[in-house]
Amino acid sequence: MTEQSANIGVVGLAVMGSNLARNLASREGNTVAVFNRSRSKTDELVADHPEAGFVPAFSYEEFAATLAKPRTAIIMVKAGGPTDAVIDSLVEVFEAGDIIVDGGNALFTDTIRREKAVRETGINFVGAGISGGEEGALLGPSIMPGGSDESWVTLGPILKSIAAVAEGEPCVTHVGHDGAGHFVKMVHNGIEYADMQLIAEAYDLIRRGTGKTPAEIADVFAEWNTGELESYLIEITAEVLRQIDAETGKPLVDVILDQAGAKGTGAWTVQTALSLGVPVSGIAEATFARSLSSHPEQRAVSRDLPGAEEELTVDDVDAFIEDVRLALYASKIVAYSQGFDEIRAGAAEYDWTIDLGAVSKIWRAGCIIRAQFLNRIADAYDAEPGLPVLLTAPYFVEALGRAQGAWRRIVSTAAGAGIPAPAFSSSLSYYDGLRAERLPAALVQGQRDFFGAHTYKRIDKEGTFHTLWSGDRTEIEAEDTH
Ligand SMILES: NC(=O)c1ccc[n+]([C@@H]2O[C@H](COP(=O)([O-])OP(=O)(O)OC[C@H]3O[C@@H](n4cnc5c(N)ncnc54)[C@H](OP(=O)(O)O)[C@@H]3O)[C@@H](O)[C@H]2O)c1
Repeated sequence: MTEQSANIGVVGLAVMGSNLARNLASREGNTVAVFNRSRSKTDELVADHPEAGFVPAFSYEEFAATLAKPRTAIIMVKAGGPTDAVIDSLVEVFEAGDIIVDGGNALFTDTIRREKAVRETGINFVGAGISGGEEGALLGPSIMPGGSDESWVTLGPILKSIAAVAEGEPCVTHVGHDGAGHFVKMVHNGIEYADMQLIAEAYDLIRRGTGKTPAEIADVFAEWNTGELESYLIEITAEVLRQIDAETGKPLVDVILDQAGAKGTGAWTVQTALSLGVPVSGIAEATFARSLSSHPEQRAVSRDLPGAEEELTVDDVDAFIEDVRLALYASKIVAYSQGFDEIRAGAAEYDWTIDLGAVSKIWRAGCIIRAQFLNRIADAYDAEPGLPVLLTAPYFVEALGRAQGAWRRIVSTAAGAGIPAPAFSSSLSYYDGLRAERLPAALVQGQRDFFGAHTYKRIDKEGTFHTLWSGDRTEIEAEDTH
């Protein structure tokens, strides 16, 4: 061990931590201290990568002693209790001015709590969302750090050196204070759920409508990936659909059990959106679609429920596929618009200043939702930073106008043929809900007033009103009870 020879340390050397440590070590000027609870992972990493020049530590005390001040350490361990345990241990051996970064997938409210507690010791705590999986961690992830301005001064150059690069710009920005980084990472994952579900619905409709094989549909996705849908998720969809199972010779997608798992970030995004009163229906439907798929017992007893009278038949295959593409694009615009709406609402609730254009830019490379499309979102926020609804930006208005006929045809075709397309259809309903001059919410207010005296407002005069439903049904002025 060399005293204070490392400028950055990593705690937690499982797949993400070891790759991130190697990424850090590969950048000029970095010497990386590494520590893992069980020694074997540290020994293995150091032995396998002599080129990295790692400084191994085998206790928290040793780890702290190897780091130059201000000490900077990135934690990459299992989210939840393990993260708290590592923070507590680091706080004991670090001192005021040092920086602890949690790069795991923490719930943003945990990050707010941890930041507050650690700040009292004078140590800086930064919750940083890191996206891109193991390959991103190694080659360049998209990084969403929160935390104090002071910690960003030291941390910024280090994170910029390891982040993915999009059009010459590193995919990292100081998102906002305390939990802002993990909040934005959470919404990123929520959008990822919606994007994946929309792609899955598109695949299902094409397969059931045209009878094309998975390999043929892979060609369709590969073609889509050369246009406005170009994205990592479309690209890997083609790869997955092309894969043949070595054991059976069948398309791999046909032998994979159709029950989608989840690690919880989609659910967090939806739960948070419900608390904030933000309709993220695309993300919610994507999360629920995974839940529905994962209830085999309910699906088994429901299999014989009556279905549509007619199967889906498609006369013009090319026109149908183009309709699906446009429906996918329009629904994707809705999903991103809803996600950015949640970030806007979260920033207002938690008092963060979040530059939405900068967020869209750091998602252009390194992360799972990386896409050409994110440049259009950045343009929209550049032109109007306070844009209240992303999909009302001129570029998206044009795209939605171009797509809406196809979108409506696809949603009604799916419903008519009994093919579930929850993300497509809920996105369209959201779009039409936003557009509506009047919503039946007026009736809901009437019902609420009837059974609960919840009162209502009128379109033609100021004030709050209640109808005496169980009396003579005259209207009186009332206290606003919402
Ligand atoms: N995998 C991904 O694609 C991905 C992508 C983005 C973010 N993340 C996030 O990155 C973090 C790391 O992910 P991962 O997949 O590399 O690892 P992981 O499987 O989530 O966690 C394993 C690591 O946590 C350590 N650990 C567990 N309990 C501990 C405790 N009580 N005290 C100290 N260390 C403890 C383990 O140490 P031992 O070796 O001693 O057991 C090991 O180093 C997670 O928060 C994850 O959600 C993962």
